[in-house]
Amino acid sequence: MGAPELDWWRSAVIYQIYPRSFADANGDGMGDLPGITSRLGSLKTLGIDAIWLSPFMRSPQKDAGYDVSDYCDVDPLFGTLDDFDKMLATAHGLGLKVLIDLVPNHTSDQHEWFKRAVAAGPGSPEREFYHFRDGDVPPNNWQSMFGGPAWTQLPDGQWYCHLFDSSQPDLNWENPAVQEAFEDILRFWLDRGVDGFRVDQPHAMGKAEGLPDHPDVARAGAGFIEGEPSPPMWFQDSVHPIFRKWRAILDSYPGERAMCGEAYVLPLSFMALWVRPDEFHQTFNFRYLDSPWTASDIRACVDESFAAFGSVGAPSTWVLSNHDVMRHASRMGGDFGRTTASDGVGPNDPQPDAELGLKRAVAATLFTLGLPGSMYLYQGEELGLPEHTTLEPEFRQDPTFARTKGARVGRDGCRVPLPWEANSSISNGFSSTGKSWLPQPASYASYSRDLQESVEGSTLETYKRALAMRKELNLGHGTFEWVEYLCSESVLAYRNGNLLVTHNFETSETSWEVGHQDT
Ligand code: GLC
Repeated sequence: MGAPELDWWRSAVIYQIYPRSFADANGDGMGDLPGITSRLGSLKTLGIDAIWLSPFMRSPQKDAGYDVSDYCDVDPLFGTLDDFDKMLATAHGLGLKVLIDLVPNHTSDQHEWFKRAVAAGPGSPEREFYHFRDGDVPPNNWQSMFGGPAWTQLPDGQWYCHLFDSSQPDLNWENPAVQEAFEDILRFWLDRGVDGFRVDQPHAMGKAEGLPDHPDVARAGAGFIEGEPSPPMWFQDSVHPIFRKWRAILDSYPGERAMCGEAYVLPLSFMALWVRPDEFHQTFNFRYLDSPWTASDIRACVDESFAAFGSVGAPSTWVLSNHDVMRHASRMGGDFGRTTASDGVGPNDPQPDAELGLKRAVAATLFTLGLPGSMYLYQGEELGLPEHTTLEPEFRQDPTFARTKGARVGRDGCRVPLPWEANSSISNGFSSTGKSWLPQPASYASYSRDLQESVEGSTLETYKRALAMRKELNLGHGTFEWVEYLCSESVLAYRNGNLLVTHNFETSETSWEVGHQDT
């Protein structure tokens, strides 16, 4: 039994592929679409329901593809549209759904729209695609998420807004032409047969009228303070009609196409507004990813998640790792808070305990896989891959590193290419030539997939067993209740249907029992 076709997204286990680092078919050191196609069989045997691909569209790659210069073409680094179609057909043939990344808050500065806007000059309709302003100094105090001011000045004197890198100008979503252009982009990929989208930074798309100052940059930096009114660049109400339109477009296609918003909106009761029945199907539960791994924090988070999402009839998603945060096998091997987790760890920082981290991470994953809802896995976590925490500065590519002059090392450590077959001279099977756009740490050989396949007790086999059981017991569509008499300061126990899950946060042990009766 798999996720039923109807409402598949409510329970699906969705595996994130980071195309640069998944598998390299042409040996240039950069993962690509043919590489993904060739390895999809392994994902099928892992037992997932769907894949989500981080961006593979045309891009100067200033932010690893989250700076798109053509939304309707494949970057030559990753292949061609034809390669995409083959990958999609292969995935569908294996019964896997495919979500792709859509980046609507900003384009690359090499996108035709931006190039035209620069050429057309101040006051032109072309500039209305973005946020341009006059002035001798930056128009307001907004900061970039990657460090430094959120404004860059052109030689003609106008400033443009970028909440991320200066190569990623923010689009003006008040402009109907921008809205129409994206509706066409959605249709382009839906017509090709994708099952939906992971939408990047949707909570950044709306900007308060007049672009007023952030009320508290000193405390919030580029971000926001939970529980306080949203600053002028985050989760503005004006964006909801846009997502309702998108939802109607998705719903007009056969099958159930779904969208998951990377809506970093907290508390979860606010995030839930993004998954009302006519908006996103899902959002990433960042509260769960951010929670310290203690019984009280996780209990509070699980309760809050079911209450918030349940109030609008949406499932919760569960997520522990992705391409923006320290891998949970390393995060849990030390005292790393949320900020360190997203700023990255370098050779001069305190290092995680790999053994403890892996034990805790696998236990955390098992605890999570028993929960009803949908689960996101990040490529390599099924191998127990640690973060590359000793990457030397010369290899760093995340714009955060350069924009903060190395003060924040950035996210490269979780983006290192995967080890498939242990052989360090050919980057452990990632590419046939041994090339790899980021070097793997020496330890990666020992995590290679071939060393874990069919090996009882390996991280990979543990994931496979848990995923198989999740499917067999239909846990994603299941029910949830705490088993109070087993819960304590260090233990959480819950029941999902016939399954009893107990997790000891002190020893990092999880056990699953099926058909357990208690009194
Ligand atoms: C999202 C992506 C991240 C990217 C940022 C800007 O958070 O996950 O990788 O840098 O948006 O597009």
